[in-house]
Amino acid sequence: MKKILVTGGCGYIGAHTILDLIENNFDPVCIDNNSRSTTALLQGIKDITGKAVKNYKVDLCNFDDTYAVFQENTDIEGIIHFAAYKAVGESVENPLLYFENNLTSLINVLKCAKEFNISNFIFSSSCTVYGSPDEIPVTERSPLKPAESPYGATKQMGEEIVKEVTRSSETSSILLRYFNPVGAHPSALIGELPVGKPQNLVPAITQTAIGKLKQLIVHGDDYETRDGSCVRDYIHVCDIAHAHTLALQYLINKKNSSPCEIFNLGTGNGVTVLEAIHSFEKVSGVKLNYAIGPRRPGDIMAIYANNSLAKEKLNWNPKYSLDEMMSSAWKWELKLKADEQLHNNPNFQMN
Ligand code: WQD
Repeated sequence: MKKILVTGGCGYIGAHTILDLIENNFDPVCIDNNSRSTTALLQGIKDITGKAVKNYKVDLCNFDDTYAVFQENTDIEGIIHFAAYKAVGESVENPLLYFENNLTSLINVLKCAKEFNISNFIFSSSCTVYGSPDEIPVTERSPLKPAESPYGATKQMGEEIVKEVTRSSETSSILLRYFNPVGAHPSALIGELPVGKPQNLVPAITQTAIGKLKQLIVHGDDYETRDGSCVRDYIHVCDIAHAHTLALQYLINKKNSSPCEIFNLGTGNGVTVLEAIHSFEKVSGVKLNYAIGPRRPGDIMAIYANNSLAKEKLNWNPKYSLDEMMSSAWKWELKLKADEQLHNNPNFQMN
């Protein structure tokens, strides 16, 4: 089995990708300093697959500690780099934290990849690099606009770094631009674990529905869209995860190194905030307590993907519907609540 290094593998998308890699006969190993995560999702992966995935609790901003992991794993055949801070609002309040963490960690991993001749590299990017597009759906050739946040700027800079390193070396690399990853693995044994109050729509919906949050505020219904609320391309996290496995196989099968390739990972369907809420209400049977509030600074009105390149070259076909995204997110929220009740139950004995 080919050993694959997954940085940030204890996070939401990283863990779902590790699971997909295992199910496709890869041997993933994780580096995650757990500054924004725990190893809970690796336990979920073990519950699903029986496989214990090793995590090196290492800060990728520390080059020596990072290098030591590569020295211990000289048989790594590919790297998927997820590790980064990703809270847009926090990045506006503390830009240097984002530039230092997101770029230093990337550079250290790329330096090790070069040192250890690891030629397959996948970079976790985001549709945020498009800013507010002039035309939708966006293709990979759509012009990038000035970043809307320091977080977005680190993704744009990260892409440029990967492209230039690829151009000047034997590395083969792929940039994957996620649209809006949502939902959870159908088993409800792994899912999203937001840190603090969720900023993203779907965890905000499920936490409101389960009573953790009092009310969901819809950030604006006066946009020039079909119902006035913003349009996004929500994509199931398992579809995103499988795209990484396909991208890795694509790189491994490519004999020669070639310029960095870019792929949009979205369903190609634009969905409004209100449509997402209605889908959730339909699949959960819960009437959601929400109110319309003011627009959220930094939000763009509408974006969704032209995903034909990933379909054609990676043979990727996203299979989950919006309803399935919402039902899997709800099932995961219910599981979290059940676990909480179990652990808070005085009669519960840890085995
Ligand atoms: C979606 C829509 C909100 C919460 C961000 C990052 C992006 C990526 C995904 C990392 C917007 C509305 C939300 C709420 C609401 N992150 N909303 N009430 O902003 O499209 O993308 O997360 O890679 O880089 O920018 O996602 O889920 O925050 O918002 O009305 O309580 O839901 O205004 O229109 P976004 P989101």
